[in-house]
Amino acid sequence: MSTEKNKLTTSWGAPVGDNQNSITAGSRGPTLIQDVHLLEKLAHFNRERVPERVVHAKGAGAHGYLEVTQDLTKYTKASLFSEVGKRTPLFVRFSTVAGENGSSDTVRDPRGFAVKFYTDEGNYDLVGNNTPVFFIRDAIKFPDFIHTQKRHPQTHLKNPNAVWDFWSLSPESLHQVTILMSDRGIPATLRHMHGFGSHTFKWVNAEGEGVWVKYHFKTEQGVQNLAPDVAAQLAADNPDYHTEDLFNAIDKGDFPAWKLCVQIMPLEDANTYRFDPFDVTKVWSQKDYPLIEVGRMVLDRNPENYFAEVEQATFSPGTLVPGIDVSPDKMLQGRLFAYGDAHRYRVGANHQTLPINRPRSEVNNYQRDGQMRADNNGGGSVYYEPNSLGGPKETPADKPAPYEVSGSADSVAYDHHDHYTQPGDLYRLLSEEERTRLVQTIVGAMKPVESDEIKLRQIGHFYKADPEYGIRVAEGLGLSIPE
Ligand code: HEM
Repeated sequence: MSTEKNKLTTSWGAPVGDNQNSITAGSRGPTLIQDVHLLEKLAHFNRERVPERVVHAKGAGAHGYLEVTQDLTKYTKASLFSEVGKRTPLFVRFSTVAGENGSSDTVRDPRGFAVKFYTDEGNYDLVGNNTPVFFIRDAIKFPDFIHTQKRHPQTHLKNPNAVWDFWSLSPESLHQVTILMSDRGIPATLRHMHGFGSHTFKWVNAEGEGVWVKYHFKTEQGVQNLAPDVAAQLAADNPDYHTEDLFNAIDKGDFPAWKLCVQIMPLEDANTYRFDPFDVTKVWSQKDYPLIEVGRMVLDRNPENYFAEVEQATFSPGTLVPGIDVSPDKMLQGRLFAYGDAHRYRVGANHQTLPINRPRSEVNNYQRDGQMRADNNGGGSVYYEPNSLGGPKETPADKPAPYEVSGSADSVAYDHHDHYTQPGDLYRLLSEEERTRLVQTIVGAMKPVESDEIKLRQIGHFYKADPEYGIRVAEGLGLSIPE
């Protein structure tokens, strides 16, 4: 058997005689179909792409670990948090949201912040963003929202009319819109931004007692942002600026790190808190629920292959481990369906068996077969349940803690509609220079909107958050606020 690493072979391992000249009938004759190497090469090339992610298509990834720095086992039995000093390997993928796979890194957009922890009780995915809130709070609005962020079906152009029409008719978006239009809308690099789980999740301890939890990754590099003109220049000169920065930093040993902190809310507080704590358009006050550090995330290894690792990585908010559970957040609930479905379509039914996605812990179940099953498919082990053959059994102790629900099945909205206090508070927290830049950015983004009705409707939201906010945007757009 040849061990020559540099001998070119077909995908079947046979040596290739000529990789530069197809087999033709004489030097000027047509190409012969018997050149199977040529056929295989062209056919494989046609299949090099998998569908890009419908959102978050452009991304960069890295490997690293989480090290636990504080004992929070009174809140969760999750094995990745089981003892101080414990290290769990992980893979992170950062992304922009709206752009295609080849789009520019330095655009104004939220950034995806997806972490896959390879825990010793299965994978745990935390699929968040660099913002603590989101534009909408019910999954049923997500496809429409994303349509407005993507291209117009006729012109194939981005469409500010749709963007602001949707936002102005969805006032719950105001908080996230304010963050997006602020300096934080364009991070300097992927290393210089915070990350958030955004949703409320539930932690459960070994006694079965639960708490509500929100996650925060605090960058140790400090928050830094790009001025819009610098970002625009970079988008033209080096559209892969963030991807390159992350790779190069890790390559030269400058490993980026984040403190992982949580906010903990007692279960019963959810019934009396001043707003619904499951509403992903709101943040919990850190005065009410201070940040508690739990660990430190370090990224110390670049992918060896972009497609195999970054492109084929499949993250899902439904990939959970004992001790971590979901909340009734209506967005999160919809996401529990959307991601697995996307993965089966985009990567395939056996996406979990790919090296980047495969748990580092044992996988024992009765799922078999399907396209591209690349492991041993369970070999000859028992393939049904119940069985009397000693096959793997469920562990009732790992059932999610029971959770009482009541109410009539109905299409109901969240029962509170204050979309203005938190964005207003955020506006008032900004310095004068930051407010000026915020308003300039909004005015620049809204100028191309053709309809004054849409502009005035949106100005009304800014005004309700803080009159000065609304007046300054209106002035910038040359409009006056109606009585
Ligand atoms: C990616 C759906 C809300 C963060 C995706 C993908 C889908 C999706 C289908 C592509 C998955 C893939 O092909 O691998 C939805 C739906 C949402 C929603 C239906 C609302 C109901 C959110 C929210 C966040 C978020 C609120 C953050 C807090 C992400 C991230 C990715 C992503 C980070 C990229 C994951 C990766 O790097 O592979 N989303 N999404 N999404 N989404 Fe969402």
